[in-house]
Amino acid sequence: MPRVVPVERDAPAGRAVTEAAEALRAGRLVALPTETVYGLGARAFDERAIALVFAAKGRPTHHPLILHVLDERQARELAARWPDAASRLAGAFWPGPLTLVVDRAAHVPASVAGGGASIAVRAPAHPVARALIAALGEPIAAPSANRYQGLSPTAASHVVRQLGDAVDLVLDGGPCSAGIESTVVDVRGPTARVLRPGAVGLDALRRVLGAVEARIERAGAEEPRAAPGMDARHYAPRAPLHLVAGGPELASRAARSLASGDRRVGVVLCGASAAPEPRLLLRVLPAEPAPYARLLYGTLHDLDESGVDAIVVQAVPGGDAWWAVADRLRRAAAAP
Ligand code: TXA
Ligand code: MG
Repeated sequence: MPRVVPVERDAPAGRAVTEAAEALRAGRLVALPTETVYGLGARAFDERAIALVFAAKGRPTHHPLILHVLDERQARELAARWPDAASRLAGAFWPGPLTLVVDRAAHVPASVAGGGASIAVRAPAHPVARALIAALGEPIAAPSANRYQGLSPTAASHVVRQLGDAVDLVLDGGPCSAGIESTVVDVRGPTARVLRPGAVGLDALRRVLGAVEARIERAGAEEPRAAPGMDARHYAPRAPLHLVAGGPELASRAARSLASGDRRVGVVLCGASAAPEPRLLLRVLPAEPAPYARLLYGTLHDLDESGVDAIVVQAVPGGDAWWAVADRLRRAAAAP
């Protein structure tokens, strides 16, 4: 099992972070907390370490990684071109849960970018992530620290459970505050385009840029993929996840029909409560999108851990505020 070292969120500088930076320098993998989810970090310019990241996740090598930087200045060094929209978005949301897709500078290894001509960059807000980037003095490539298509980790224990010895060291900075991945925005074209909805909402992006395109492929749609890595099935727990539209009664009824014999079923409701029933493991998440997002992955991890045979999730409301959560639930429910 990897070493798990607690790091105080608000006083991260110290031995643990120094050791983690040394491990990265030596070509090893370090899991780090960010405000969105935990990342599986490697030195961005170390192609052997990058290969280890893909292997640890079981991820196809054409799925690009996000480069984590301290600030816009460090991001610009990785880009062949830094559009005005990138400056405006970085100014408004960095450090924070926003990832920008820009043209890749020639000195950035193609393998980090999944072989493509663009790269994704983000300056995370989490003090532990920032302290680690600062201690290394270089960008850290870090996808979410889960197995390919699996549930993203929002706690150190989730990382250990999924990746085990593939990671050398896990910096435990406690639970992630946003709990859902960053918003990915392509700023290379004339109009910025959301490739993955996330912790920064569409309204917030539009307040800064004006026009922003937001047509996301539906899970299962037969369209060419705008964002490599945005597979129909993604963010999925081990147990099959069923998304049920309508109120809590419909979700409970669906769960009951799946819970025949000795099968146990998890039920995740949105804001509404329901009476306890045998064979149903009931979880109630808040009716507001931000607190819901913060708790969602942890809840699904817990249900998986308790060994349920299926998970029924009551669909969340529509609208921009719920966009990212609805996207994740749809992908988690997509057939393998
Ligand atoms: O919140 C997050 O973004 C977390 C934390 C650790 O920073 N990271 C994360 O990384 O979610 P990952 O690799 O699991 O997802 C990154 C997604 C990819 O699935 C892909 O859709 C998009 O970002 N992406 C990365 N590089 C891209 C590129 N060059 N062009 C288009 N999309 C890209
Ligand atoms: Mg991921």
